[in-house]
Amino acid sequence: MIFRQIHLGPMQNFSYIIGDEGEAIVVDAGWETDKLIGIAAKENLEIKKIILTHSHYDHVQKADELASKANAAAYFHEDDSNEIKRALKNPSVKIIKLKDNDEIKVGNVKIKVIHTPGHTPGGICLLAGNKLLTGDTLFVNAIGRTDLPGGDAAKLFESLQKLKKLDDNIEVYPGHDYGEIPFSTIGGEKKTNPYFKCESKEQFFNLLGMF
Ligand SMILES: [Fe+2]
Repeated sequence: MIFRQIHLGPMQNFSYIIGDEGEAIVVDAGWETDKLIGIAAKENLEIKKIILTHSHYDHVQKADELASKANAAAYFHEDDSNEIKRALKNPSVKIIKLKDNDEIKVGNVKIKVIHTPGHTPGGICLLAGNKLLTGDTLFVNAIGRTDLPGGDAAKLFESLQKLKKLDDNIEVYPGHDYGEIPFSTIGGEKKTNPYFKCESKEQFFNLLGMF
């Protein structure tokens, strides 16, 4: 498996390329499509699929352009589909709606979809081997905002509990470069991320300043 974390655009976004057997999946497409295409080409990978972790513009606004240039299909969770469809203007781009536990293949690599609502209703994390791409659900020592339209702090808390069940050695690759280090592990976040450490909803809401 080829795996690349790519810093793009003015908002500290990360996109990712997961490749195998000459094929690539791009995760999130907010900025600089030529950079993504160039990195894939250097690895002799053809971009076949684009997975969008959620509907916010800094993750999806270039999905249409990238899908058109690469002739790739766009995958996203059904609960964010109305917002994402608005960003996908080219009617010939193939759209595939995802659900929790779906599997997407690139070469021989299977990527598992974990529905993690809270930042947006259709937010997803993606598990590829020992790497978890967390979008704006979980950052290094932080979490995604819940005060934007569609945000829900109680749901984000439940989503984080889901992620806590994963093995401590699973590596965490966030949708933004907001931490002191660009990626972490589930075990590391359990130790240092104050939001991820919360064991009750009350504690979590307190930390968010909701009481
Ligand atoms: Fe976001």
